[in-house]
Amino acid sequence: MKRFQELSHAFLKYFDTAHFPDQPSGLYDAASYMLGAGGKRIRPVLCLMGNELFANIHADAWKTATAIELFHNFTLIHDDIMDKAPLRRGNATVHAKFNESSALLAGDVMLLRAYGYLNTTESHHVQMLISQMNEVGRQVCEGQQMDMDFENRESVPLISYLQMIELKTAVLLAASLRMGAFIAGAGEDDQRNLYAFGKNLGLAFQVQDDWLDAFGDPEKFGKKTGGDIIQNKKTFLLLKALETADASQKKDILQLLEYTGADKVDKMLVLFSACGVDKAAQTAQKRYFDQALADLEQIRIPPERKIPLKEMAAYLLQRNA
Ligand code: IPE
Ligand code: IPE
Ligand code: MG
Ligand code: MG
Ligand code: MG
Repeated sequence: MKRFQELSHAFLKYFDTAHFPDQPSGLYDAASYMLGAGGKRIRPVLCLMGNELFANIHADAWKTATAIELFHNFTLIHDDIMDKAPLRRGNATVHAKFNESSALLAGDVMLLRAYGYLNTTESHHVQMLISQMNEVGRQVCEGQQMDMDFENRESVPLISYLQMIELKTAVLLAASLRMGAFIAGAGEDDQRNLYAFGKNLGLAFQVQDDWLDAFGDPEKFGKKTGGDIIQNKKTFLLLKALETADASQKKDILQLLEYTGADKVDKMLVLFSACGVDKAAQTAQKRYFDQALADLEQIRIPPERKIPLKEMAAYLLQRNA
């Protein structure tokens, strides 16, 4: 078994505990329902791996990993409300299963619980960890607002898309690694390079997420495929399609953005394929992946210690969920 898989199993065990009381059940059933639905637990494992890159895993890395996974689940519950998503991890979303108000509160209480865990870390760690989590929280809000603003625009420049996905997705992966490295006492330069590795990995990860939303296997993906197309999300695929389309294809794509018929997704997928978005997504992912590896290269520790992170990165980009 690969190291990231071992850590993933170990984290699952550690995380499988009651994070909340029972009452009021309208709130805590919703929170437990979300956590019980699983997920890949990527970010907490990255935190543990960032820690283990430099030292034996410290108790605070486990606490921070727990906080990170709770934070991530908070963002997903709120994201599903914003994206009007019916499915997540193969189940009805929290707001669909319960109601929007309880879903909002379940997300809020998870965020607060996350800070509760951070607050139990050693006194020389706590300030940095809370500041880092705060910074990421603000960035995710900014990225999510941009994501929604873009729904109402015909198109956005690729650079704005990249800024948006860096904020909504990549910084949390990056910060997870950095928090782990910080707890291990890694130097500033190493922390910075590990953060850059995570950020580039996160960009590749979100491009893959965009691809899966359009072309993934609905059985495995666990979310409703075509959701981004229905919501007029300015995904990597849509922007690339607009960039490479000829005049008539471009007109069709722009018309489809105004269209709400049942075959909107199918029609858009045909245009995406005709515009070669598959290849463009692959090329972009490879570029960010290679950049991530170059960042990892810069970290001043023996190369064999970096193998688990390389394996994790490779796994993330060929996932189907
Ligand atoms: C989903 O993240 C949100 C994105 C940033 C694309 P994951 O794909 O890590 O979701 P889970 O936790 O495994 O369900
Ligand atoms: C999600 O982007 C980013 C956050 C949850 C902060 P998406 O909206 O693409 O994530 P999914 O596809 O719903 O998981
Ligand atoms: Mg979403
Ligand atoms: Mg979203
Ligand atoms: Mg998505």
